[in-house]
Amino acid sequence: MTILDLCAYLGLGAVGAASVNLLIGMLMALRYSPVRNWPHLRMNLFALHQWTAYCTVALALTHPLVLLLVKSPRFRVYDLVWPLNSPLQPKLNLAGAGALYLLVLVFVSSLLRTRLGRPLWRNLHYLVFPAAALLFLHSILTDPALKDGHPDLLDGGKIFVEAAAVVSLVAVGVRVWLRGR
Ligand code: HEM
Repeated sequence: MTILDLCAYLGLGAVGAASVNLLIGMLMALRYSPVRNWPHLRMNLFALHQWTAYCTVALALTHPLVLLLVKSPRFRVYDLVWPLNSPLQPKLNLAGAGALYLLVLVFVSSLLRTRLGRPLWRNLHYLVFPAAALLFLHSILTDPALKDGHPDLLDGGKIFVEAAAVVSLVAVGVRVWLRGR
């Protein structure tokens, strides 16, 4: 496995954890009961939501850090912090950084929830939706080989991300529809 493979796997793991986290969060918002409904088991959705958030942030932070070890093209620390002049696909890298900043903001605000108060925490928590849009845009269109900026959208990793994007989009649609009723 190359450094670039490791970087891609960390990014894919972050997308998987973020999607599961989003789904659990929406179930909690809809007061879903795993005892009354499927799988008829006692499950702590809150703890699951918290743990998937820890995994998302840990994987999303290590994914760009590993890029610093790639020999070519060379990424500098500045390219990760503000990727507007980073190699190959700077705008898409910027979308990834934007997603990361929003995820970290939502995560930290959740740790400080009692101090911030519910209204502010809730408004900050809605930033997960633009974060999801940016992270799917970034992870579907980036070239995992860092070659020509033209990714194969039917490669295994991309199909995983595309499926996660479709499931998340449908879940958001269902949540909006059920809340409306
Ligand atoms: C400073 C922030 C970020 C930078 C500079 C960055 C940069 C990159 C680069 C250069 C690639 C192509 C090389 C590779 O596949 O490893 C890539 C791919 C990818 N990134 Fe990021 N990224 C950032 C944040 C994120 C975040 C927050 C996520 C998800 C939560 C993410 C998920 C992915 C995924 C899934 C891929 C594609 C892997 C594949 O197609 O196999 N990235 N990123």
